Amino acid sequence: LTTAAVIAATTMTALPALADCDDGEIVIKFSHVTNTDRHPKGIAASLLAERVNAEMDGTACMEVYPSSQLYNDDQVLEAMLQGDVQMAAPSLSKFEQFTRVFRIFDLPFMFENIEAVDAFQASETGQEMMQSMTRRGLLGLAYWHNGMKQMSANVPLIEPTDAAGLKFRVQASDVLVAQMEAMGASPQPMAFSEVYGALQTGVVDGQENTWSNIYGQKFFEVQDGITETNHGIIDYLVVTSDEWWQGLEPEVRDQLATILAEVTETRNAESFTVNQENRQAILDAGGTIRELTPEQRQAWVDAMRPVWDEFVDDVGQENIDAAQAINA
Ligand code: LMR
Repeated sequence: LTTAAVIAATTMTALPALADCDDGEIVIKFSHVTNTDRHPKGIAASLLAERVNAEMDGTACMEVYPSSQLYNDDQVLEAMLQGDVQMAAPSLSKFEQFTRVFRIFDLPFMFENIEAVDAFQASETGQEMMQSMTRRGLLGLAYWHNGMKQMSANVPLIEPTDAAGLKFRVQASDVLVAQMEAMGASPQPMAFSEVYGALQTGVVDGQENTWSNIYGQKFFEVQDGITETNHGIIDYLVVTSDEWWQGLEPEVRDQLATILAEVTETRNAESFTVNQENRQAILDAGGTIRELTPEQRQAWVDAMRPVWDEFVDDVGQENIDAAQAINA
């Protein structure tokens, strides 16, 4: 193979599976940062595109760009406001520049499990939150689930004090920064696409993420082990430009909204299972997973819970109470 052929082959595998958009079709670019296979968001985005392209053929056409190929999460929302991309599903931690209402989802130990997250999102408050950024040009269309976060580092993490002094990658969220500081660790905000390299080279010592992200990005290969803390969540907002959405013909918008709602319901119901499959895949690949006793886990709760007090004004005590009532 010539160098040019090797470059061509490499580039081709990096290209997303693009739909064949026809002249006159509305092109909907969907950009996201995770892998496509065995990932709650990756599978949902692919299914959404598959259905749009089959059922709206001649009217609309969706192209999915996964794995940060088009944008990182810190670029995608600006690109959306510029009209360069029409849909994305950043985690709820990534909207800090636009609203503080989603901070409740980042608070450690706020939600017991993904069903509690689902119930909160389905409440009137949760549904209203999707419209919290329309003034800034962004409209939330649906919540997509990923799952519970786990902690990992280049040393075993059993007690929260094991994390003290270590550098942890966090998503760019003030709550997550405060959470790591509460353990005496040093938080390093960083784009998702850079985390593997940062762990591998020792730029950071650890990270927190879901089983599907830890397996999908192979973080477990460059960590001592993963501690099953279930201390927080990663969930997504499927978001679009309000101007673009309102500019669609009503019947096009309705059809798109219906397909999205159906895909959301189908895939959200599977997110827990998909994450458990990734947990098993980590074990099968030789990764180490450490489970905590109830007493050990309580020490993590005690270390992180005080963070709630710092953000109660942003998220509202009544919303914290509502989330706790759902857990109970
Ligand atoms: C992260 O940045 O760790 C996650 O939000 C990535 C994702 O989209 O799951």
